[in-house]
Amino acid sequence: EKGGYEHFMLKEIHQQPQTLADCMRGRLSLEAPYVKLGGVDEYEKTISNAKRFIIAACGTSWHAGLIGEYLFEDLARIPVEVEYASELRYRNPIIQEGDVVIALSQSGETADTLAALELAKDKGAMLYGVVNAVGSSIARLTDAGSYIHAGPEIGVASTKAFTGQVALLTMMAISLGYKRGRIPNSYFHKLISELHNIPAKIERALRCEEQIKYIAKEIKDRQNALYLGRGFNFPVALEGALKLKEISYIHAEGYPAAEMKHGPIALIDEEMPVIVIATNRSAYDKVVSNIQEVKARKGMVIAVVTEGEKTISEMADYTIEIPDTEEPLTPLLSVIPLQLLSYHIAVMRGCNVDQPRNLAKSVTVE
Ligand code: M6R
Repeated sequence: EKGGYEHFMLKEIHQQPQTLADCMRGRLSLEAPYVKLGGVDEYEKTISNAKRFIIAACGTSWHAGLIGEYLFEDLARIPVEVEYASELRYRNPIIQEGDVVIALSQSGETADTLAALELAKDKGAMLYGVVNAVGSSIARLTDAGSYIHAGPEIGVASTKAFTGQVALLTMMAISLGYKRGRIPNSYFHKLISELHNIPAKIERALRCEEQIKYIAKEIKDRQNALYLGRGFNFPVALEGALKLKEISYIHAEGYPAAEMKHGPIALIDEEMPVIVIATNRSAYDKVVSNIQEVKARKGMVIAVVTEGEKTISEMADYTIEIPDTEEPLTPLLSVIPLQLLSYHIAVMRGCNVDQPRNLAKSVTVE
């Protein structure tokens, strides 16, 4: 059942080239070129003319939603709000006709997400589901939607569902951006061909595993860890921190890199590992200076960089290389080493990786 892997989580991490290919199959064509999502095409007018998108989700799905916000704003110029479903449902939120509420959920059974959708439905919004579990409650309640086709996810810590959600939101943003005339032809072609290459690039990113095991040994006895990222990769920092907390029980926090000097920098000393996602071209110099600040305080820097990168590799204690791609697609690659890092740290600490203490795979009660 575990396909030769020691844990479901490890199997699911390694399945990602395949699950993402499945997620994109029939939806993406290089030749035409096109991006086709049944649910979006069916409600094209409503979705394309939406006043705004409200993304509702919990946990890892909420992190995927945050990446969705960057994607929809950048590629399709649609205003987006991302909400914790648990907060949205109790806030008497301003939701109106013309709003599209996108629910992200692996299980399709999360109680808070379902309740937020019921509320949005009453207020007249259109509901779109991005779900993994076929025929689940959220899939049935929504007006339209897209399955991510990741297959059953057994490990409590979500991995392949996260990349599936991000890939789906990326396809949605590219499709809407193109339809709304916000993406020029040449960039449209480029994004499609880069998306098409993502499964092979994930395969390459997975090759860092031996190196990750070595880094995991260095971190496994620490009490805390800080994850930093900017732009599209800020939510990946949050996700890396959540993965570490959930399965290894090491306290970790994710921050937008530039926020460090507004507080968390006070925590940095020789005991603090800082994992920096440094792949963004647009804020490269700024991330370099964040790394210098950490090193000046003797923190340990583990940097995730683009293949061939030199400057950061010389400054960081450890660098993990991932393949280059268009910036909006980098989360699909940068999250891979973070998933592996949390997995190997948890194994080394003797934790129950697939069923961490106090956690359930799907939170069907409040
Ligand atoms: O099934 P859902 O995607 O709605 O679940 C949402 C969260 O409960 C889930 O992502 C949780 O945070 C995972 N344990 C993350 O690894």
